[in-house]
Amino acid sequence: MSSVRVFAPATVANVGCGYDVLGFALYRPGDEVAVRLTDSGKVTLDQVEGDDGRLPLDPEKNTVSSVVISYLEHIGSKQGVGISLHKKMPFGSGLGSSAASAVGGLVAVNEIMGRPLDRSELLPFAMEGERLACGNAHADNVAPSLLGGFVLIRSYDPLDVISLPVPGDICCALVYPHIEIPTLAARQIIRQNIPMSGAIRQWGNVGALVAGLYRDDLELIGRSLEDFIVEPVRKMLIPGFDGLRETAVANGALGFGISGSGPTVFSLCRNKTCAEAAAKALVSELAGNGVASTSWVSKINSEGAVVLK
Ligand code: HSE
Repeated sequence: MSSVRVFAPATVANVGCGYDVLGFALYRPGDEVAVRLTDSGKVTLDQVEGDDGRLPLDPEKNTVSSVVISYLEHIGSKQGVGISLHKKMPFGSGLGSSAASAVGGLVAVNEIMGRPLDRSELLPFAMEGERLACGNAHADNVAPSLLGGFVLIRSYDPLDVISLPVPGDICCALVYPHIEIPTLAARQIIRQNIPMSGAIRQWGNVGALVAGLYRDDLELIGRSLEDFIVEPVRKMLIPGFDGLRETAVANGALGFGISGSGPTVFSLCRNKTCAEAAAKALVSELAGNGVASTSWVSKINSEGAVVLK
């Protein structure tokens, strides 16, 4: 095998109430990463596309190459690897762009090296990519992109990632207003201490959301998608956020929130038809406010990153 190409999906992190502990994978958008074996004895970035020249080309500083370097060191290999990264989603969008690149690189290099590690063993390397990208090694984007489905990070130390079931037809509408919010900045504005009253409501919602997923109870899932801690601060970065929520709910969304650190907003819907209606209404509302946007509709991706034939 001389080269391997991988698609790694975008993700919705936090899912309303679960800051840094909940996330799910999408079928689209996502990044593609190709790796090939070389004789150079080094990890090189052969090509980076779709980034408007913004990503660093130094292999130690670029997320995708830095995680591949750490991985090869870990397995004790001096193999040269050339990487091509095809960015197919916007930066600073709240869709887990850096996470998808890191996951794509790790799955591809692990495949070409004969899969010495299993998927879950790749997770700590992908988390270090997040640290490089935004200063914090959270897993709520990288874990679903790598493992697929809806995941809960019960603990970071020790790392304990739990896969949750997803009701069959549930579908997600994503609308990305064309503004950029760097994750680091969006993390810096969050309060580090929270009132007990907010914490009580928040952990009630996290527990209820998990119960809703297990019970196939769409109404319970919808009413658990409330965030009393992070959204009240971050929504100020998203133009017309409260109106967008009203529009999503009026168009049948079960629940609505900020995807990751934003500005993308997500609506969980009972099926694809409803998700398409919600996405269309949100794009139209943003346009009415003078904000261009892009939308996607996706079911929850149970597979995560895939090796492409
Ligand atoms: N949990 C992270 C955050 C996801 O909200 O900052 C974005 O990377």
